[in-house]
Amino acid sequence: MSDKVLVSAADGVLEIRFNRADKKNALTDDMYAAVVEALQRADREPALRVVLISGEGAAFSAGNDLQDFMQNPPDLSGGAQAGPVWRFMQILSTLRKVVVAAVQGPAVGVGSTLLLHCDLVVAADTARFSLPFINLGLVPEFGSTLLLPRLMGHQLAAEITLLGEPFDAATAQRLGLVNRVVPEAALRDTARELARKLAAKAPEALLLTKQLLRNPQGTLSERIAEEAGLFSKRLRSAEFREAASAFFEKRAPDFSKL
Ligand code: COA
Repeated sequence: MSDKVLVSAADGVLEIRFNRADKKNALTDDMYAAVVEALQRADREPALRVVLISGEGAAFSAGNDLQDFMQNPPDLSGGAQAGPVWRFMQILSTLRKVVVAAVQGPAVGVGSTLLLHCDLVVAADTARFSLPFINLGLVPEFGSTLLLPRLMGHQLAAEITLLGEPFDAATAQRLGLVNRVVPEAALRDTARELARKLAAKAPEALLLTKQLLRNPQGTLSERIAEEAGLFSKRLRSAEFREAASAFFEKRAPDFSKL
């Protein structure tokens, strides 16, 4: 595994940390491959409930390594030969486990795009987001032309993709891209606390809730029926029994064994 990506697990949280601070955490093929391996592990191991993605140093990520882009253009066909960046976005966008991201400094290109496929994003007040594809003669990637207008409406999505100018953490929060903005010194602790809080939730309920949120197709009545089916099953689950028992026994629920 690349030493440019640090992976550690504690309290049900798998932390994935970009570790190429001298290059502002620009992502190379080796780094994508290491992240893919870590994400596969997170989805495979039941004890890992939540993933936390962050970056070492002054930047979250300067996006794809531009040297790699020039010398070794990625295969984005989605076919059998698909390159590491494709495999990374593919697994991130379909991951069953909940993903939290902690962003400080620049989050450029795929460094911003990947956030659309995370579930909660905490930003330091130093964070600066940008989707500069237009300025590089490229187009937005990995579903962002669908996800951005859905998140913020056409005009705001058009502004950040057609102009390609960076925007700050407060703007990102206003646009719905970021959940919380904190001083940079508090970023790591805030993101970890949030990830641990999520990891202590009823695990199957967490997966199902994410699955419902990530699949917004269908009519309202279809969705109500789908939720009702799941809700009924959940009422007979060990997780609900533990939550209800904990309520009557006036204690915190413990889902760690489930
Ligand atoms: N690919 C490869 N190397 C990168 C990189 C990238 N995407 N982004 C930064 N680096 C390297 C720089 O070349 C520099 O290397 P050097 O020290 O050997 O000269 C080092 O990282 C530091 O970058 P620098 O530009 O000096 O830092 P900064 O704090 O002034 O600016 C950024 C940070 C992220 C705003 C700026 O580096 C940048 O705009 N990078 C390109 C982002 C980009 O276009 N990404 C691709 C999107 S598709």
